[in-house]
Amino acid sequence: MSLANLLNNPKKLILFSGKGGVGKTTTAAAYALKLARMGKPTLIISSDPAPSLSDIFDVEIGDGIKPLGKVKNLYAEEISADSVLKRWKKKFGPEVYEVLSSFIPLEYDIIDYFANAPGIEEEFMLDYILELLEEDKYETVIWDTAPAGHTLRLLNLPRTMLSHLEAAAKVYIKFYGYLKKLSEFSKIGRKKRSVFTIIDEWKSLSEKILCFLRDGSRTEFIVVTIPEALSVFQTERIIDFSREFGLSVNNIIINNVIKTVDGDFLKTRKKMQQNYLDQLKDRYERDMELTEIPLASHEVKGIEKIAHISDLLFI
Ligand SMILES: Nc1ncnc2c1ncn2[C@@H]1O[C@H](COP(=O)(O)OP(=O)(O)OP(=O)(O)O)[C@@H](O)[C@H]1O
Ligand SMILES: [Mg+2]
Repeated sequence: MSLANLLNNPKKLILFSGKGGVGKTTTAAAYALKLARMGKPTLIISSDPAPSLSDIFDVEIGDGIKPLGKVKNLYAEEISADSVLKRWKKKFGPEVYEVLSSFIPLEYDIIDYFANAPGIEEEFMLDYILELLEEDKYETVIWDTAPAGHTLRLLNLPRTMLSHLEAAAKVYIKFYGYLKKLSEFSKIGRKKRSVFTIIDEWKSLSEKILCFLRDGSRTEFIVVTIPEALSVFQTERIIDFSREFGLSVNNIIINNVIKTVDGDFLKTRKKMQQNYLDQLKDRYERDMELTEIPLASHEVKGIEKIAHISDLLFI
């Protein structure tokens, strides 16, 4: 399905992924702007520690959803790892602490161990996005993911997270007999939900998230790349991995393509790019849509420039 078709076949969540610096924020912003201008309430959310949405839209965004004043129907948020962690602690912290501390005296800091489980940040980011989508305020949420293997980690999270949690559960099992005796003796820990019940709830949360990500009628992945070796390798990895996980990836945006050549320098570079363009076409043209965005002579900053990229995306 081409990007233009995708517009008329709205998904709830669209993730932009790809190597660092290839144009994820630029193309995600262009896509979001297009949806908003079509009258669809759209939220663009970034988990990049750098304030990249603020930079490209030229307004202060930060934590918390903000309407992008100048554009009707467009909302943005730059969510920090810190606020994701806070949300996690608020949602699960008290019950984890309650169960554990009913057996052994513990400092509240113990929940930091759980909160630092690999994948928690991404999982709760997704949990947060799912909650937003359930509110039904936005027709589509565009997620401009952070660079460097973030997406791959994200897709692996139910596995990594559960193995971390199961390690904690094993420790619990080891002391279970002792703890049980202690609780019978002192009548503490009764009527409390067990750690296993909580872990089971986390498992079902992971499954719910994975199910949402795998549902091609609700979630779409867009891979952004540039015609250069490292980015093409990363693209292949993301696509293989995504397919293995049963995710819907049908579009590759090839950014920074040199179209006009006015000198030897660009001529050489264009030739270099051609190899990678051919490679991408050979490999993916049959079953995916490839959209090329030319390299501009200026950076993309501010609504007007973003709108120009929108026009190029949906030709
Ligand atoms: N087609 C283009 N022509 C010229 N400049 C571009 C183009 N696309 C993006 N840029 C510029 O390239 C830089 C990187 O783009 P962008 O921030 O969108 O990449 P990113 O993949 O989000 O990076 P990061 O991985 O750091 O988040 C920006 O300065 C942007 O203005
Ligand atoms: Mg970015």
